[in-house]
Amino acid sequence: MKEIRIKTPATSANVGPGYDIFAMALADPCDEVHLILDGSDEIKIEVENDCQDIPTKVEDNVAGLAALELLKRHQLKQGMTIKIIKHMKSGGGMGTTGASAAAVVYGLNKLLDLNLSENEMIDISRMGEVASGGSPHADNVAASIMGGFVLVKSYDPIDVLKLDIPEFPVVLAAIKKSQRTTRGFITYEIGQEKLKEQMARCSRIIHAVHTKDIEEFGSAFSVDYIAEPVRGAAIPEYEEVKKHVIAAGGYGCQISGGGSSVIALCSPENIDLIAAIMEKGFADNPNFVKVYKTTTSNLGVREA
Ligand code: HSE
Repeated sequence: MKEIRIKTPATSANVGPGYDIFAMALADPCDEVHLILDGSDEIKIEVENDCQDIPTKVEDNVAGLAALELLKRHQLKQGMTIKIIKHMKSGGGMGTTGASAAAVVYGLNKLLDLNLSENEMIDISRMGEVASGGSPHADNVAASIMGGFVLVKSYDPIDVLKLDIPEFPVVLAAIKKSQRTTRGFITYEIGQEKLKEQMARCSRIIHAVHTKDIEEFGSAFSVDYIAEPVRGAAIPEYEEVKKHVIAAGGYGCQISGGGSSVIALCSPENIDLIAAIMEKGFADNPNFVKVYKTTTSNLGVREA
């Protein structure tokens, strides 16, 4: 029998204008995955702690799908037990599903001595995302695997660059999705002016990571013409909360990943105030779960 315990972080994808190409790892919350190669031929999935409604059927579970993809690509027959120990009070858009997929691929790589590159692990893990969002986007799983700020340089073939990011203070309001995925409602016809602005803001984000400038980072990430109009409209309090966060000195506010969670950046001195604004602002939303105070982080999936 072989086993490994893995810690795997929440991530926030898109980072404003970087739809499907940017993401960043957060210091908290994290889940744990306990992967056991128990000599059986079967894949079993167990969810412990805060089970939520996470499916345990292999084909419906992101970690299960990622494991199947790895075994298929490497022509392996391997049973295992995947125990997902949920600590994240998950909303949507916190990368919790990608975190489980990344953990299983990371664990199998170690236990089976596969020597996979980070890009190979990302490419396999992203197939797990099909179980949750219907699309094999790589941004969340890349940030889970590599930590830091990730930039998908190419989807075909998958090639991801990690940039070290300073520990920017983050307030994350976890809000459950009211619908499974909003991707289908997003229009890519944003017009020339908005397209130019979107590209300019992506460039500013990269520059702000390099110059460690949280104000510039926050300002650039607060506008997105692709996903924010659709996903922001699905959260009734979003515009109002965003206005209050910025008025209170927050550096930026945006939908986190595929929504409906909302993420804000601020100074360490301001984090309690921004958290209180978000808590109050979303209190009446039936899908609101909780507010996390955390930071961006350079740590990705790792042995616990
Ligand atoms: N880039 C993905 C999306 C992230 O926007 O749908 C999902 O969390």
